[in-house]
Amino acid sequence: MNDYEEKRDLLAIDDFSKELPDLIDWAIKIKNGDDFVDEFKPLEGMSIGSIYEKPSTRTRVSFEVGVNKLGGQPLTLLSNDIQLGKSESIADTAAVLSRFLDGMTYRCFKHSDVGDLAKHSTIPVINALSDLHHPCQAAADLMTITENKEKLNGHISWIGDGNNVLHDLLLASVSLGHDFSYATPLGYEPDKMIIERAKKIADQTGAKIIETNDPEEAVTGAGVIYTDIFVSMGEEHLKDKKNAFDGFQINEDLVSKADPDYLFMHCLPAHRGEEVTDSVIDSKNSVVFDQAENRMWAQMSLLTYMCNENAWHTFKELF
Ligand code: CP
Ligand code: NVA
Repeated sequence: MNDYEEKRDLLAIDDFSKELPDLIDWAIKIKNGDDFVDEFKPLEGMSIGSIYEKPSTRTRVSFEVGVNKLGGQPLTLLSNDIQLGKSESIADTAAVLSRFLDGMTYRCFKHSDVGDLAKHSTIPVINALSDLHHPCQAAADLMTITENKEKLNGHISWIGDGNNVLHDLLLASVSLGHDFSYATPLGYEPDKMIIERAKKIADQTGAKIIETNDPEEAVTGAGVIYTDIFVSMGEEHLKDKKNAFDGFQINEDLVSKADPDYLFMHCLPAHRGEEVTDSVIDSKNSVVFDQAENRMWAQMSLLTYMCNENAWHTFKELF
């Protein structure tokens, strides 16, 4: 069974700031590993459960396929089908599932819920998206940026909502020393405490952070332009929110201010014609489908590290 002495949880990407470069290298190695990867089964005999309170395409499929590739058994637990949130508390769910499983992922509305699940579990817990954080997305995104580092010329620039995806992208980018700019509409800035955390990390790595409400200022000279939908899951009742995003669409005009070899990034799903035009998302600069694929490789690295750390180190030393 598990090979960890003290369990570790991933609630936000800065839980693993120190390990992030190695976790990414590991993910790139296993992605390019061809034959030997077929023999590597660090999750053999283990079961990983994933609870979803919100829909998912990438996260669900990448966890199911990734766990299977590592020799483990994935179990997807949709919130409508389980007792959590109806007749059972998070604490009791955590205690019960810890008796069956070797690791858990949880996509939830309230960030404090994934913290509670982790607190009451004896097995590692991974945040698979909450209202505040999306660490698995950030791990895959920094992996994608690392894969393209030869042609990267300029800072990482976020244009759009100050949301969960921005929070972890900012934390991960500055922890790897990348300069970062973000432009959000007035009133839709990122969470203040997360900005403070990012600034502390940036002070240590030397990364610069530019905060603005002007998309043009943020993208000027950028090597990466990143956006997300304007209205996240759980915010559908905010009918007027989209009106604040006039001028925040990533289109030909805006990207002309960036480095010519800029990477266009989006966590997907995209609302084409809203936050990004077809001409940008389908351009040669777009790496959105690499990002989606990299969700699986990055999560395989995280799962192996968290559930079988010895195997993770052995793989790292051998390859
Ligand atoms: N990017 C992302 O998390 O996609 P899903 O909602 O499809 O999992
Ligand atoms: N910010 C989006 C990301 C979806 C992957 C949301 O939370 O809905």
